[in-house]
Amino acid sequence: MSEQSKYTTVASTLHWAVVILVCALFGLGWYMTDLPPGPDRGFYFATHKSIGISLFIVMTGRLAWRIFNSPPALRVDLPTWKLLLAKNVHFAFYILLFAQPLTGYLSSSFSGYDTSLFGYPLPSWGWKQKNLNDFFSVAHSSCSIAILVCVTLHIAGVVSHVYQEGISFLNRIKPW
Ligand code: HEM
Ligand code: HEM
Repeated sequence: MSEQSKYTTVASTLHWAVVILVCALFGLGWYMTDLPPGPDRGFYFATHKSIGISLFIVMTGRLAWRIFNSPPALRVDLPTWKLLLAKNVHFAFYILLFAQPLTGYLSSSFSGYDTSLFGYPLPSWGWKQKNLNDFFSVAHSSCSIAILVCVTLHIAGVVSHVYQEGISFLNRIKPW
């Protein structure tokens, strides 16, 4: 595969860093919400928040990189609907992966608990208020469902592309 049909090393590395962080956040998010109140729950919530804020920082770098670096051209002609779907899912990822940490931060701010980044205290954007906490909690879980829908569409698209073009299609997003 020629050099031009590959994402840059920075873009590919950021892609896989985001995938790892998103998987960890889903695992922690689902696990921690079922825990009974206590130090374990506090530890997992704090870890989830710290990783979520780290993801926000990584996404800021990724967006900046994406603005100045266009995606490489595709080797295969895709039907317009597939191309549009793929582009819209990529676009939705960029929106949702900012909305998700922001709704999480807001939910945390209105819960009355502290928000910190691996122990470093961060400012609270609110005060203890149950209805706002509930509102941002629902927004946070709704966003997580939208992310899951996009991941499903994205992986289905990648699989169909691999079927059409071969496994070398994955080289586009290989960091090395
Ligand atoms: C949390 C999961 C994932 C997210 C959020 C995600 C996000 C993205 C985004 C936003 C792009 C567009 C590149 C850009 O404009 O920056 C992309 C491209 C790509 N992703 Fe993912 N991805 C995920 C999982 C995966 C997985 C599991 C695979 C492999 C099975 C994969 C394979 C690819 C490939 C091959 C491309 C290049 C597609 C193209 O240029 O047409 N992604 N991904
Ligand atoms: C992309 C980043 C993030 C992802 C993918 C994510 C994912 C999740 C998931 C799947 C849950 C379980 C939701 C449910 O029970 O339905 C959850 C809960 C939670 N997350 Fe996140 N999260 C992210 C970022 C953050 C951040 C940055 C914070 C706070 C600073 C945060 C705070 C919370 C809190 C407090 C909960 C408990 C329930 C709630 O209030 O919504 N999350 N998260």
